[in-house]
This record gives sequence, C-alpha cells and structure tokens, in this order.
Amino acid sequence: MKGLILAGGLGTRLFPLTKITNKHLLPVYDRPMIFYPLQTLINAGIKDIMVVTGGNNAGDFLRLLGNGKEFGLKHLNYTYQEREGGIAEALGLAEHFAEGERVVVILGDNIIEWNIVEAVKEFKRQRSGAKIMIKTVKNPKDYGVAELKGNKIVKIVEKPQKPKSNYAVLGIYMYDNQVFDIIKTLKPSKRGELEITDVNNAYIKRGDLTYSVLKGYWADAGASIDALLEANKFVARHGANKKI
Ligand code: DAU
Repeated sequence: MKGLILAGGLGTRLFPLTKITNKHLLPVYDRPMIFYPLQTLINAGIKDIMVVTGGNNAGDFLRLLGNGKEFGLKHLNYTYQEREGGIAEALGLAEHFAEGERVVVILGDNIIEWNIVEAVKEFKRQRSGAKIMIKTVKNPKDYGVAELKGNKIVKIVEKPQKPKSNYAVLGIYMYDNQVFDIIKTLKPSKRGELEITDVNNAYIKRGDLTYSVLKGYWADAGASIDALLEANKFVARHGANKKI
C-alpha cells in the first residue's frame, strides 16, 4: 500500500496568504499544514509516500520535509503538477510510483483529530475497488456530497446546490490500481479540472465502492480563511492525529 499527499493547486481561496507561498506550507497552530496529512498516513502504517506539489514554492516542500526523517521515514518521494488540473490529474501523476499497488490518497489540507487505521485495515481486506470516507457536516454544499440509498452510496455530487444528504466526502480516498485507467477516461469539468468525484462515481457504477464514516473532528483547512482559522483553534485546543 502506497501513500499519496496531494498538495498542488494555487490556493486562491486563501489569497493573499497564498500569493507568495503554497497553501500547504501555511501554519495550522504549531505546524505547517502538510505535517497533518503526512502524519495521518504514517499513523495508518503507510511508509512509502509521495508528495505531489505544484504552484508556488514547490522547492520549499523539500526544504521542509526532506526525506521525512523527522517523521521516522527513510525516504520521501516528490513529483510536480505543472498546472491546476484537478485532484484526479494530480493523482494520475503518481501512476509510476504506485507500481501496480493500491494507494491511500489524502488531500494536503485535510486534518483529522483521530486516525484512519481501521478504514485502511478494512480496505486491505477488500478484494478490489475503492473506499472513501464520509462525515456529516453543516455545510454540505461546500463539498462532494454522498447520496445514500439504504447503506449504499448511489451517487456523489460535487458541491451541489441542493445536497441530498449532509454527508461530505472527505479528502481521504483508497483505490486499487484501476484508478489510473479510470483517470485516463475522464474529461475536464466545467471548472476545467479532472474531478476526483468523477473517479468515485466510476467506482460506484462498477459496484465497487465502499465507505467508512470518520469519527471525530475533520477539517478541510484550505477551504477558506474561516476554515483555516477554525482548524487552528481546534488543533490548539484538542490536538490532531491522535492515536486512540
Ligand atoms: O476536502 C474535501 C473536498 O476536497 C471534497 O469534499 C471534494 O469532493 C473535493 O473536490 C475537494 O474539494 P475542494 O474544493 O476542497 O478541493 P481543492 O480545489 O481545495 O483541492 C483540495 C486539495 O487537492 C488541495 O489542498 C491540493 C490538492 N490539489 C487540488 C487541485 C485543484 C492538487 O494537488 N492539484 C490540483 O490541481
């Protein structure tokens, strides 16, 4: 199982904070934002990790993280996304790194209170397909939203005007190696990006998508200035990436 942190994009929703630096290098309480998703992967037992960067100051990731020694890693891999082509495009850049293995993908701005150990274990037992994580939120319109029938997700809609549930799809995804073939079939959305929601809907069509409901706090810290402030306050008070 390989791990991927997607930390490309321009972070325009956080302007002017991101005018001269990369969103994932901004502080969340006492650490740069990217430390949190990296710790999430490591706590789930994933040690072979690639960071996909892009936009401003890509070289600073290397200066900050190096080979991941501070995190107990022997090595860290990096690749560069040349434009803001979407989350699925960033993921597609890691095909050579995955080498046919399964991947656990986390967005560089997603911070969790606890861990994803159980979900990763479940995915290891799954014969094929994908697993996503969901959680009820107050503002589903701001996220990918899962439409459920019984206990099955039947559709995911990206930032819907009229959400069919309060379940946001979190930026933590697990895929078998088919994901790279699926990405090659995608067409850019209206905002000109290859959408991760289209990838997940392709797995739903194949009847091969499972999900876990995340316990505890979750933040899409890069969603807005207010989301960044909230994440800072939460982490200062309660911490993040706790083991149990
Ligand atoms: O955080 C969860 C949400 O993340 C999901 O509910 C949505 O379904 C999913 O589309 C995504 O929505 P966002 O609007 O928050 O995505 P954003 O454009 O902020 O990108 C999230 C991260 O993905 C960002 O921190 C870095 C990475 N990324 C994004 C783009 C557009 C890349 O690496 N490359 C890119 O081109």
